[in-house]
Amino acid sequence: MVACSAPGKVILFGEHAVVFGEPALAIAINLRTTVRAEPATDWAVNGRPIDSERHRYVRAAMDAVGLPSPFHLTVESEIPEGSGMGSSAAISVSTLAALHSARGDVRPESIALEAFGVEHAVQGRASPIDTSTSTHGEAVLVLRERGTGFLWRVDKDDVSWFLHHRDMPAIDLVVGYTGLDAPTGPLVDKVRAFAERSEAAREAIKEIGRITLSGVDAIKGEDWEAVGKLMNRNHELLNALGVGHHLIDRLIEAVRPLSLGAKITGAGGGGSVIALTEDPASAARAIERAGGKPYKIKSGGPGLEVSKP
Ligand code: PMV
Repeated sequence: MVACSAPGKVILFGEHAVVFGEPALAIAINLRTTVRAEPATDWAVNGRPIDSERHRYVRAAMDAVGLPSPFHLTVESEIPEGSGMGSSAAISVSTLAALHSARGDVRPESIALEAFGVEHAVQGRASPIDTSTSTHGEAVLVLRERGTGFLWRVDKDDVSWFLHHRDMPAIDLVVGYTGLDAPTGPLVDKVRAFAERSEAAREAIKEIGRITLSGVDAIKGEDWEAVGKLMNRNHELLNALGVGHHLIDRLIEAVRPLSLGAKITGAGGGGSVIALTEDPASAARAIERAGGKPYKIKSGGPGLEVSKP
């Protein structure tokens, strides 16, 4: 038996822009997915035959690994699905690791690359930020070229992403889930179509990239007010790219007065917002009053963990 667990993530800066190769910063969170794999005579997930629709990520991970002999997989996740907290990345990473470790050792870099392939196969165009953050943990910065803390490089179509480890102090964040699960693929396509026809959209994408880099500096200097302002501006730009939603507006309005900054995290169109706040308890209550589901999370923590009891 092998048990592999991987964390969810939140994107602090740069979602959507990262698909175009712009910088982005994501952090692992203290909610995790665990996959256990036991050799068996047939394939099963949580005691049932594999359903290619319901278990899309597990299925794509199995196809990627191409194992000759079957396993019974048990999947347990603390990460709410569709919430922008990286549940699909965590499931891809932990499933791949569980299947590979049945055969031998698991290398984080190969898992991160393969998990990106799984996400790409299931949801279409995507960036490797979620899967790399779930694999590496802590904080992951995506850049256009190789820099300090380099982890690995991912190439797809005409884009190259250089993934880096970032040191980051643990911070308290409040995520507000709208309750509306908006699939990432169509939102990514929508932004791409907009960017193809609009100079303003292309400018917004570039500005988001610059915001990420300013955000990284502000975090390094522990200037949390500046970090908050940059989050607010990042949010405006995501709205300008058309990934806002009235349920998101409601949560942002409720939480802003109690926060240094607040923004969409992940694909938008529903999903979740994230608030940087000195008063997580009040921010969580405000989200609840505005109809959202709050999660008080801690940033950082380990990436993929493999145990063979
Ligand atoms: O799937 P989500 O909600 O975590 O969004 C991922 C972030 C995007 O930039 C919108 C897509 C991507 O693959 O980078």
